[in-house]
Amino acid sequence: MARHPEAALHPGAEITDGGHRPSGGGSSATLIIPTFNEAENVGELLARLAACLPAQDRYDVLFVDDSTDDTPAVIERASRACPFPVTVMHRDVAEGGLSGAVVEGMKAATSDWIVVMDADLQHPPSLVPDLVATGRRTGADLVVASRYAGGGSNSGLSGRYRIAVSRGSTLLAKGLFPSALRGISDPMSGFFAIRRSVVHSRADVLRPLGYKILLELAVRCRPRNVAEVPFTFQERFGGASKSTVREGIRFLAHLVSLRTATHGTRMLAFGLIGLTGFLPNLGVLAALTALGMHYLPAEIVANQFGVLWNFVLIDLLLFGDRRGHRSLGNRLGRFALLANTDLVLRVPLIALLVGGAHMGVLPATALALLATFVLRFLGTELLVYLPRRGRGRQDRPAAARQRETT
Ligand code: GDD
Ligand code: MN
Repeated sequence: MARHPEAALHPGAEITDGGHRPSGGGSSATLIIPTFNEAENVGELLARLAACLPAQDRYDVLFVDDSTDDTPAVIERASRACPFPVTVMHRDVAEGGLSGAVVEGMKAATSDWIVVMDADLQHPPSLVPDLVATGRRTGADLVVASRYAGGGSNSGLSGRYRIAVSRGSTLLAKGLFPSALRGISDPMSGFFAIRRSVVHSRADVLRPLGYKILLELAVRCRPRNVAEVPFTFQERFGGASKSTVREGIRFLAHLVSLRTATHGTRMLAFGLIGLTGFLPNLGVLAALTALGMHYLPAEIVANQFGVLWNFVLIDLLLFGDRRGHRSLGNRLGRFALLANTDLVLRVPLIALLVGGAHMGVLPATALALLATFVLRFLGTELLVYLPRRGRGRQDRPAAARQRETT
């Protein structure tokens, strides 16, 4: 992965060559701030941090930057007036987007506590010391700044639509992960403090994808005790949100990937998606036979609609984190080839069921689709989404490459 050497911007900090950041000389907390084109905000953010971080608690501030504007230069200028070390880890390839940036920062941190916050001042800097102090006082592994804990509020979210989306995704996540998210009223929050030991002990299982880094950490690292501090989500200070509809799809893919970490649940999800493919398949089949087409060619045409439908859902939702090693065309080609090989096996089976067992065309098709399902699942895992030998991990996060085109 291409990554610029980190630039250590404060005279007190060392310059390192990309693998690890300065040791921080025993700093008590590392503040990780992901940035993507936040030139309008980072100066004000650093000034407010300088005003509120207690001098006795030694903080290292680490920006993990994927910007294409002059954010790093603005940070550099502003950091000169800061009493704490400020480092920018600029990435040429934005692997894993926002979450990928945070995880990279976490891997480089050496302090006991890690705090994550946004750069746009929607997260009040004055709360940073409270988060760490609460963790120390309560012995918690994770302290979440929550908009939904008593006294918190979402007032900075612009518009009813965003508020509804935020509420809906919170409910969805809590419903899917009732035990991992127990005690976390705001799993969508991007503002929290976590003990480094909790992240580092499970760092190899993290598969960051998209915006919801806290969700990833809560589900995969399972911090034992969780505390919350209420806060009011502020308006953005300057610039515009980087969140897009694509981010929403990535969030759904993230949920599916967290929920289907085992082979069994993956197959179940594959089956459920496959079931929805009956709709376009049988619908087109019914239409074509109604138009007078013989059912056998109609099966072939109808199958293509089912294949395309399934491919889109499976590729986006189920294998969203495992598709970076092949191009879209390659994946669709392989997927369609598998599905049609399956059809070649299925058509004689359907002919047998219709001709021999006198079943109706639709039930015979449904039965044959079910019969070939397991073969298709295994084929898809092995032939479409299994990383090529020796090229596995680096190729994994497709999200990174997509971000460049967003
Ligand atoms: N390094 C990096 N790479 N940083 C990124 C990227 C990226 O690809 N995309 C966004 N960021 C940074 C932004 O620069 C900002 O500092 C922070 O991540 C949050 O991005 P926003 O664009 O401000 O997102 P938001 O306001 O919609 O989302 C925030 O609120 C959510 C709660 O509603 C984030 O805090 C989310 O984490 C949080 O869940
Ligand atoms: Mn924001």
